[in-house]
Amino acid sequence: MARLTLRGAAALVLCVATAACNRDAGVAPTSPTQLHAAIANSQRTEVPDAPILAIGHRGASGYAPEHTIASYDLALELGADYIEQDLQLTSDGVLVVLHDPTLDRTARGAAENCKGFVIEKTLAQIKTCDVGSWFNGAFPQYARAEYVGLKIPTLDEVLERYQHRANYYIETKNPEDAPGMEEKLLQALDRFALRGSAVRRDQVLIQSFSDASLRKIHGLDPALPLVQLFSNIGSANIRATLDQVRTYAVGIGPSSGSVDAALVDAAHVRCIDVHPYTVNDPGQMAALLAVGVDGMFTNFPDRLSALLGSDQARGKQGAKGVAGARAACRANE
Ligand code: G3P
Ligand code: CA
Repeated sequence: MARLTLRGAAALVLCVATAACNRDAGVAPTSPTQLHAAIANSQRTEVPDAPILAIGHRGASGYAPEHTIASYDLALELGADYIEQDLQLTSDGVLVVLHDPTLDRTARGAAENCKGFVIEKTLAQIKTCDVGSWFNGAFPQYARAEYVGLKIPTLDEVLERYQHRANYYIETKNPEDAPGMEEKLLQALDRFALRGSAVRRDQVLIQSFSDASLRKIHGLDPALPLVQLFSNIGSANIRATLDQVRTYAVGIGPSSGSVDAALVDAAHVRCIDVHPYTVNDPGQMAALLAVGVDGMFTNFPDRLSALLGSDQARGKQGAKGVAGARAACRANE
């Protein structure tokens, strides 16, 4: 299998370059300089079409309030190839971008509007809430006056702002509590003419912990690239699902603690990409790159971007390269 060989070679180059030959995710950190050189070298010669992806987890949420336009703008500035959206549905049927099913952790404002479940609030109520102030209190080292008063974006507002200039990594969150979420997501992609570019060049990846949600989307449009998320259930348990996952998804998003070389290899044999979450420490990033992951979610896209360097395709070209490599991999099976 071509993909396995190429990734295996990249990992070997890293291993040789860094002497970090323990193939567990918990290997000692490699030096960014050595890592950069090894990745650049391996990709120039062996995997020019399969870049490693930096996914801005809730944007650049280490530096700015998660899932706000400020966080997405910053993620793209800092080199994220994708910006991530977690979806919730309002009581009047609008998809908004927020991680938690409830407003309490990150929203500030009148309790009747900004406390409790998103699914029980109208969009008008939600739009009264401030989701920037909590961040300034929680992370004073990154606090900025302009974060105060930031609003929860609708999915349409995010797609409208970045259109075809960004890649999107969208999660159907708690879809069992939000009937119709999948159809609404696909309608939003159609409104912004993103479905075709999702299919052709991975401009949109759709992720979920819910296999039912992903299977539903696969039923609605089998060509859309989907990613099955896993909580930290361990490498062996995830490996046991891969033959099934492969029937509807092109990738897996495991918790970083479940990732080892056996999982990456088992996925690559099936032409499945591996995008662990959420990786913020450069040493852990390096260790995961050394076992051959294809990208990762991070709150600090600049840290991963620095490790990856500028020799590989990034952004839209990077996503397109990944889509092409996967198609070639599946054609060779
Ligand atoms: O979607 C990848 C990762 O974000 C999953 O965890 O809880 O941050 O959505 P969570
Ligand atoms: Ca997520």
